[in-house]
Amino acid sequence: MGGDPGLTAGRSEAEGAEPVAMLTLGALRATVLVYAVGAAVLLAQLLRRLRGGFQEPALPAQPDRVAIVTGGTDGIGLATARRLAWLGMCVVIAGNNAAKANDVVSRIREETKNEKVHFLFCDLASLRSVRKFARDFLSRGLPLHVLVNNAGVMMVPPGRTEDGFEHHFGVNFLGHFLLTHLLLGALTSAGSPGQRSRVVTVASATHYVGELDPADPQDWKSPYSAHAAYARSKLALVLFSQRLQRLLAARGDPVTANLVDPGVVDTALFRHVWWGTRAVQRVLGWLLFKTPDEGAWTSVYAAAAPELEGVGGRYLYNEAETEPLGLARDVELQARLWAESCRLAGIPDGTGFGVE
Ligand SMILES: NC(=O)c1ccc[n+]([C@@H]2O[C@H](COP(=O)([O-])OP(=O)(O)OC[C@H]3O[C@@H](n4cnc5c(N)ncnc54)[C@H](OP(=O)(O)O)[C@@H]3O)[C@@H](O)[C@H]2O)c1
Repeated sequence: MGGDPGLTAGRSEAEGAEPVAMLTLGALRATVLVYAVGAAVLLAQLLRRLRGGFQEPALPAQPDRVAIVTGGTDGIGLATARRLAWLGMCVVIAGNNAAKANDVVSRIREETKNEKVHFLFCDLASLRSVRKFARDFLSRGLPLHVLVNNAGVMMVPPGRTEDGFEHHFGVNFLGHFLLTHLLLGALTSAGSPGQRSRVVTVASATHYVGELDPADPQDWKSPYSAHAAYARSKLALVLFSQRLQRLLAARGDPVTANLVDPGVVDTALFRHVWWGTRAVQRVLGWLLFKTPDEGAWTSVYAAAAPELEGVGGRYLYNEAETEPLGLARDVELQARLWAESCRLAGIPDGTGFGVE
């Protein structure tokens, strides 16, 4: 099966029309809501920093484990890959910029003295590339204990992926949805009842203001809003991870799925946001934003903390459990999004899941 089903499926609902950004009431509402969430998180981070700051979780060395980190070439993903390498894991960075990734691999190897750090090309904006990445990884015969679905784009201008999907939906959500499906067999084989494999999916507080119609998860019916599209892609990830955990548990697979929320982190993710926000990031980032290392701690914690052995279905923030949006627990919504995503990604609904 190739990437072609997704190719036509992605375009079908908009009949080839490019998404257009327009300042409608809906777009304005999404912008205000996303900024309100961001401001609330920044305030909480400031208070926490003033109260004594952030504590890095202490974790044991894990030299026998193999992890894939998508978007491990920058920001939170780079910090996650580096920290997992410090723990002795074999780390495969999945990225779409070979030159940048090779440089990152050399730097991490040098810093951590861990030679088991590698790069494999994966462009999440292309289902063909995601499939090739999975084939390349599996052909190496390595076990897979940890998959960190981290890569992302935020508030990019209207545009489509290679397969015709709205960019946030395609890169942040559908690419990871397919990747996880393709690697689930490897995760299951490498896990055991006492040491389960882990799928860690990087969400965002913006999912709290996301809205998603499972019959139209890319919201083609509305004019394009970058804020709504980003929040929607993160809500889709939350719904996906919650359902994944339920299906894994029902089947008794030795794999857990958790969500992590890094907070607001000083990275290049903000390159497309309003210049005023970038000015705040530049001037006050040191005080209000988390550093990439601090932002990565929850991902690393979810990937490696012994106390999370066997624990799945959690939404983790600041290395502790918190509640996702109530709607994200809606199993009917989860199932409908899952079915539609399988259709868009060109995989049978329930791939590997004969449990419902
Ligand atoms: N920063 C925050 O405040 C914040 C808050 C909540 C959630 N998050 C989430 O955290 C995750 C990491 O974000 P970040 O802040 O670390 O951003 P970042 O510094 O911009 O890093 C994003 C990473 O994703 C990669 N990427 C982008 N498009 C890709 C594609 N098509 N295929 C493969 N890789 C791709 C980038 O690759 P290149 O190196 O080639 O650019 C980069 O490595 C994202 O999922 C984001 O939504 C971030």
